[in-house]
Amino acid sequence: MGAEAGLAGRDFINALDLTRQEYEALFPLTDEIRARPDQFAQACAGKVLATLFYEPSTRTRLSFEAAMLRLGGRILTVADPQTSSVVKGESLADTIRTIAAYADLVVIRHPKEGAAQLAALYSPVPVVNGGDGAREHPTQTLTDLYTIRVYKGRISGLTVALCGDLRYGRTVHSLVSTLSLYPGMRFFLISPEELRLPEPLRRELEGRGAVVREMEQMAEALPAADVLYMTRVQKERFFNEEDYLRLRDFYILTPERLRELKGDAIVMHPLPRVTEIAPAVDADPRAVYFEQARLGMYVRMALIGSILGVI
Ligand code: NCD
Repeated sequence: MGAEAGLAGRDFINALDLTRQEYEALFPLTDEIRARPDQFAQACAGKVLATLFYEPSTRTRLSFEAAMLRLGGRILTVADPQTSSVVKGESLADTIRTIAAYADLVVIRHPKEGAAQLAALYSPVPVVNGGDGAREHPTQTLTDLYTIRVYKGRISGLTVALCGDLRYGRTVHSLVSTLSLYPGMRFFLISPEELRLPEPLRRELEGRGAVVREMEQMAEALPAADVLYMTRVQKERFFNEEDYLRLRDFYILTPERLRELKGDAIVMHPLPRVTEIAPAVDADPRAVYFEQARLGMYVRMALIGSILGVI
């Protein structure tokens, strides 16, 4: 099925490196892996995945590593560049060339926009972007699309409300680009003025035929949304603490607020959550963010297997 998806040997740097058809080829494969994990338990035997993370991560790194382990492969990890030759002043180009000599696939996360693209340029093995600065996070998009498909049964024609830091949130950038490949999409972009989605990206969505509405208040979007995608204000992208603190608690999803949401809507979040979703919301059946994180491991199994050309 991976061969069908045509991903063997490919990098995955930008969400739109994959066509809608290529995303969709990964979904039934992910269903298959979830249903019959034993059949895939040795698929990557003898293969090595390296994770090179220059920024903190829980889900992305560990779900990639868990995915590889569950496929019978092995992993090499640089979770703290302070323990590597990066502290000696080695360039990313040299680091990636070296790591690529030891592994069959490299997943990289880096604070600089474009770092994953640069790594791919120097790496003889495929590179997957685990998040580059405020720019893109394509495997989170794969996770998000699959989660929407699992819960809503479709992607086309949905109304998706995205709330929070739409300016710096890389998961949002990759997600809306990809969703806009589907017909009939409607986006409610809910953010404070300073954290609005970058203008060129908004125009791109409109250019593909999506209906886009920007707003500062959640109230208007909640009754119409099929998906409410909450995000964290990206503290690490702010220049001063004061601005961050002022914007951090701009939106807080509470059980009271949730009453305005449709009964069959879902609440997603790439996680980590800080204050933007009250813990009391977790018990609501529409809150699917922890399941979303779990599904992220399975889509990454499908992705790894496809890129390595083994499933
Ligand atoms: C996101 C990220 O790193 O961009 N986390 C993740 O990978 N699930 C979201 C965030 O940090 O806010």
